Amino acid sequence: MKNVISRIAKFLFCVCILALTAAAQTPAHAVDAEGHQWWQNAVFYEIYPRSFADSNNDGVGDLKGITSKLDYLKDLGVDAIWISPCFPSPQVDFGYDVSDYENIDPMYGTLADFDVLASEAKKRGIHIILDFVVNHSSDQHPWFLDSKSSRTSAHRDWYIWRDGKGPGEPPNNWVSGFGGSAWKFDPATNQYYYHYFYAEQPDLNWRNPAVKDAMFDVTRWWYKRGVAGFRLDAVDTLFEDPNLQDNPITRPGQNAFGDPFEKNKYNTKLPEVHDILRGLRKVADEHDAVLVGETWTADVAELNQYYGEGNNELQLPMDFLFTMVNKLSPAEFRKQIAAVNAASGWPTFVISNHDIVRSYDRYGDGQHNDQIAKLMAALYLTLRGTPIMYYGEEIGMKTTPPTSKEDVRDPIGRTGWPKEKGRDGERTPMQWDSGENAGFSKGTPWLPVPPTFKTHNVADESKDPDSVLVFYKNVLKLRHTNPALTDGSYTAINESDANVLSYLRVYKDHGVVVALNMSDAPQKVTLELKGNGFAAAKSLLATGKSGASGGEISLEPFGVFIGELTK
Ligand code: NOJ
Repeated sequence: MKNVISRIAKFLFCVCILALTAAAQTPAHAVDAEGHQWWQNAVFYEIYPRSFADSNNDGVGDLKGITSKLDYLKDLGVDAIWISPCFPSPQVDFGYDVSDYENIDPMYGTLADFDVLASEAKKRGIHIILDFVVNHSSDQHPWFLDSKSSRTSAHRDWYIWRDGKGPGEPPNNWVSGFGGSAWKFDPATNQYYYHYFYAEQPDLNWRNPAVKDAMFDVTRWWYKRGVAGFRLDAVDTLFEDPNLQDNPITRPGQNAFGDPFEKNKYNTKLPEVHDILRGLRKVADEHDAVLVGETWTADVAELNQYYGEGNNELQLPMDFLFTMVNKLSPAEFRKQIAAVNAASGWPTFVISNHDIVRSYDRYGDGQHNDQIAKLMAALYLTLRGTPIMYYGEEIGMKTTPPTSKEDVRDPIGRTGWPKEKGRDGERTPMQWDSGENAGFSKGTPWLPVPPTFKTHNVADESKDPDSVLVFYKNVLKLRHTNPALTDGSYTAINESDANVLSYLRVYKDHGVVVALNMSDAPQKVTLELKGNGFAAAKSLLATGKSGASGGEISLEPFGVFIGELTK
């Protein structure tokens, strides 16, 4: 009897340990009253690790640098950081050429540094999202080295190898997004391999189940290390037509790289992509994780495909159509916001990232740039959906492209110069203070610090109540404390106004109105509140002299008014 009891006790003990281990590996996140998951209420922030904070003064940012800035991020109002690739890489495409998916590049630190970052972030309630480069690896990845070693190697079919059409002729007319043919000849095995991006980024063959298994395992490996999700790189490009049909040429002439203008009909957005996304989502769901997608879509119908039927693919496909509204046009934004609100999944708003000109320059008029930066923050941080910020946006960092070809670091800026100057301009070091190298590093920064660090930096802006940074903090605070801004519905109002974009966010009996003057003249708006049960607005956050009197709002040029609706 004693034996039986002790066996039962041992069994129960094991069950408890197993349950506790599982719970530690799979954090259960609560949903809010509206059934919203953590990532729906979170504010994401993209960190380009080379440029964020350099702890060892070698001129390149690193993980310890990121850890040292977690308090800053917490105070700013960030809930999740997406770190652009920090895995071992020859750095041809600055990390988007991965040579080991399950490690950290020594330039950025070690796995132990990652663990410290993860645990320090967790203490502050900040989730970590890694960048999963799914379409291709580096040509230095052991998989590719083996693949190219012989036609019969174990990994040959992990990449896309084909015979040329004829001597010196690639298999078809596909051009790389980064210039030149998308095929590179390998004399050793007398075949071409396919690369949508640089030749140093060979495309993985996702039709091979072994590739799929290995890549799915990568996500499991990181989930077990505490990662809360992934941003999936270049998902459009995962599959290619197995028959390699030529892409149609869309118009005469040549692009910045001297290549014909092609429609990527046969090498992007193939339906097979969705099988993989569903599979990755299944694994993500087992770990309560989120998948963010780099999804360049032509319209909302395409965006809907990335959510998947029954929302079983990406939770957060980025809405880049929003970034295509490249002028301060209330009508254009209204149209785009309405379209995304009607989409089948949760909206994901982005205004800047490491591949596009910063929002500060895209919307700025050269005279009121700080004011416009606040206006854009007030817009996308008060919409229904998850916003993804880009480092430096919160202090009004501007794009500072290289001025000569010799200074360019991003390879496409050298091949495409001067038409295409590359992406260095939006990747310059974070401006922490007005001291040496903007407080980014005591070494020589890998890209020069723009002269604007004297006027736009964290230390000085933190002390200035009118700064872009303080405005961001205030909007984010409001977003985190006012349920109308997270859970509320979105309704456009005053839709015929050509200068002011106004909308309501309403949750139960809480209502917030946002009015944004997109013109350089003062504007007055009589809020069209009829039928909404509200009569007036009381200021929660406004810029300059903008304010409300009852249902009348006065806005200074590019002014912002965010108000609580009252009955
Ligand atoms: C998209 C990334 O954002 C970009 O920086 C990179 O060059 C390409 N994908 C290739 O990975």
